[in-house]
Amino acid sequence: MDFLTLAKERFSLRKFSDREVEQEKIDIILAAAQTAPTAVNFQPQKILVLTNKEQLEKVNKCTKFGFNAPLNFLVCYDKEISWKRGNDGHEEGEIDAAIVATHMMLAAADIGLGTTWVGSFNPVDVREQFNLPENYVPVAFLPTGYAAEDAKPSDAHITRKSLSQMVFYNKF
Ligand SMILES: Cc1cc2nc3c(=O)[nH]c(=O)nc-3n(C[C@H](O)[C@H](O)[C@H](O)COP(=O)(O)O)c2cc1C
Repeated sequence: MDFLTLAKERFSLRKFSDREVEQEKIDIILAAAQTAPTAVNFQPQKILVLTNKEQLEKVNKCTKFGFNAPLNFLVCYDKEISWKRGNDGHEEGEIDAAIVATHMMLAAADIGLGTTWVGSFNPVDVREQFNLPENYVPVAFLPTGYAAEDAKPSDAHITRKSLSQMVFYNKF
């Protein structure tokens, strides 16, 4: 599948089948996370892989968007490793983590799996439930798995602004 087709076909999956995700597929998603570009190549990403029932139940204590997925990733960055922009000290770790998570979502789509980016969670609960080191900053959960038979994209998936609304050119 060419890239644009893959990018268009990916959608936020919110209804998962119970089917377990094979370890080989988890490894492919993690390899995609490893290849992601990061600021100054500092690679601050820290990814917690959640596969067992007990761990997945903890996700529900942090967010209402667990979707009973059979697999979940918690994408974090280590703020002791991430680059801070020289000019103004801006923290770039969240950007790195976002690129990493995007790679993971697209890699998952490429191998027939669905994901949803979940940014709505209580960071205090996440830290507590998963015993995160103080320097790890959680950015997104990625519930992941095979689609339920009747799963379909939400209306939001086909609602995109026109290019004329999002692209602009400087005409000097
Ligand atoms: C930063 C970010 C945070 C998001 N947080 C959530 C969330 O907490 N819960 C959820 O159901 N979807 C969440 N989404 C998914 C968006 O709602 C979804 O990507 C958007 O509506 C477009 O739909 P599509 O992914 O199916 O194309 C999030 C997406 C992004 C990029």
